[in-house]
Amino acid sequence: MNEITLGEGSTPLLRAPRLGERYGVEELWLKWEGANPTGSFKDRGMAVATTRAVERGVTRLVCASTGNTAASSAAYAARAGIEAVIVVPAGAIAASKLVQVRAVGGTIVEVEGSFSDAFAHAEALASEPGSTFVNSGGSEDRIEGQMTVAAEIAEQLGGAPDAVTLPYGGGGNTRAVARGFEELVSSLPALYPVEAARRPDTVASAIRITEPVHERWVHEAVERSGGSLITVTDEEILDAWKNLRALEGVFSEPASAAGIAGLAHAEHEGLVVCIVTGHGLKDPAAVGA
Ligand code: F0G
Repeated sequence: MNEITLGEGSTPLLRAPRLGERYGVEELWLKWEGANPTGSFKDRGMAVATTRAVERGVTRLVCASTGNTAASSAAYAARAGIEAVIVVPAGAIAASKLVQVRAVGGTIVEVEGSFSDAFAHAEALASEPGSTFVNSGGSEDRIEGQMTVAAEIAEQLGGAPDAVTLPYGGGGNTRAVARGFEELVSSLPALYPVEAARRPDTVASAIRITEPVHERWVHEAVERSGGSLITVTDEEILDAWKNLRALEGVFSEPASAAGIAGLAHAEHEGLVVCIVTGHGLKDPAAVGA
């Protein structure tokens, strides 16, 4: 097998005592996914999806994205010597993410409307010969790749944490994290996916998704885990984003701080891991807001 990799995974797990104190969490850790090659957790699944696509003779990756899947698919396609076509809702994507796509030769298609409109358009493009759909809603490979974060956290801690919080957009990552803990670690922490109250126009542009494809699985996993689904305001997200930077020196993008904002609402005890999903250089515009 010709593995298509950029060295994704094996990201830092950082103890965050100052942030923990702020949110009243006894033992808080940050899984810093911004340290991945294109700056987000998406690289884990994209490595698997691209490797398997190339094995099947695919010559074009197609996805819809709020920006990070875009940057990731374009980079892995370039690495594999194939094309990437990315459909995005016009005007809704952080500029740096589009730069990431163009820098490695990816093609951006803008559509009027929401992420769901972009998703439908991408699905149609992906049905053309030689193409494959690499959204987690259409690719089990993406989910399998993203499961690795659970095994890594357990390895770094020497066991599963008591609770995990993470941002919730389409839900693919929550689904992957749940499956990862259940299948690779045999122990499911209480899961707290955190969504933005202002879903269609939240400041957390990466999670501007009103119809999460994985909703059913997310609800089932949360139920099994004994956690809960949390909704936070944009003010809470911006506040958490600032706290994460100022108290721990971790500069994430706004959406990635949703998991931190959720700490104020999660009924957790003991050791909590927040998955901090993407790098701040991707979406710096709101700093100072
Ligand atoms: N955090 C970041 C930084 C993201 O980019 C996303 C999703 C999420 C969290 C939510 O993950 O959708 O699996 O629940 N970004 C997608 C994209 C939609 O196109 O990059 P999810």
